[in-house]
Amino acid sequence: MKKGLLISILLLSAQAVWAVPAIDDLLKQYDPAGKMQFSAERGDKLWHQKNVGEDGKNRDCSTCHGADLRKQGKHVKSGKVIEPLSAAVNSERFTDMKKVEKWFKRNCKWTYGRECTTQEKGDILAWLAKQ
Ligand code: HEC
Repeated sequence: MKKGLLISILLLSAQAVWAVPAIDDLLKQYDPAGKMQFSAERGDKLWHQKNVGEDGKNRDCSTCHGADLRKQGKHVKSGKVIEPLSAAVNSERFTDMKKVEKWFKRNCKWTYGRECTTQEKGDILAWLAKQ
C-alpha cells in the first residue's frame, strides 16, 4: 500500500485532534475509549449559557473569565485578576488534570448550580482549544 494512503487512513481513524496538545491529553483522560464526540459548538453554548444566581443576577463562565479569553479576567466576587484562560497565550493552561477538575467542579457549581458532566466538560474544552 502507498505510504501516503496509509497515513491518511491512520489520520481518519484517529480521534479528533484539537489544536492544543494539553487539551488533547485531557480529552483522552475524560474518554479513554475514544467513544465520545466532543463538540466545540455545544461548548460555546455552555460557556455563554446565562443562569440566574442566588444574587438574582445573570452569570455565565465569562462573568469571571471575561469576554476575550486571551486577556486577563476578573473574579466577580474577590476582584482578583485571573490570568488569560486561552492556551494560545498562557502555556500553563490545561496542563494539570487535577487543577482542571478542581475548577470545573467549583465553577460549574457556582455558574449552573450543579456539577458538569464528562460530556459537558469535554465540549467546553473542545471550545476552549479554539480560543
Ligand atoms: C466566580 C468566578 C469564576 C467563574 C464564574 C468561572 N470561573 Fe473558571 N476559574 C476561576 C478561577 C479563580 C480559576 C483559578 C485561577 C486561575 O487558574 O487563574 C479558574 C480556573 C478555571 C479552569 C482551570 C484552567 C487551567 O488552568 O487548567 C477552568 C477549566 C475553568 N476555570 C473553567 C470555567 C468554566 C467552564 C466556567 C463556567 C461554567 C468558569 N470557569 C466560570 C473563576 C471563575
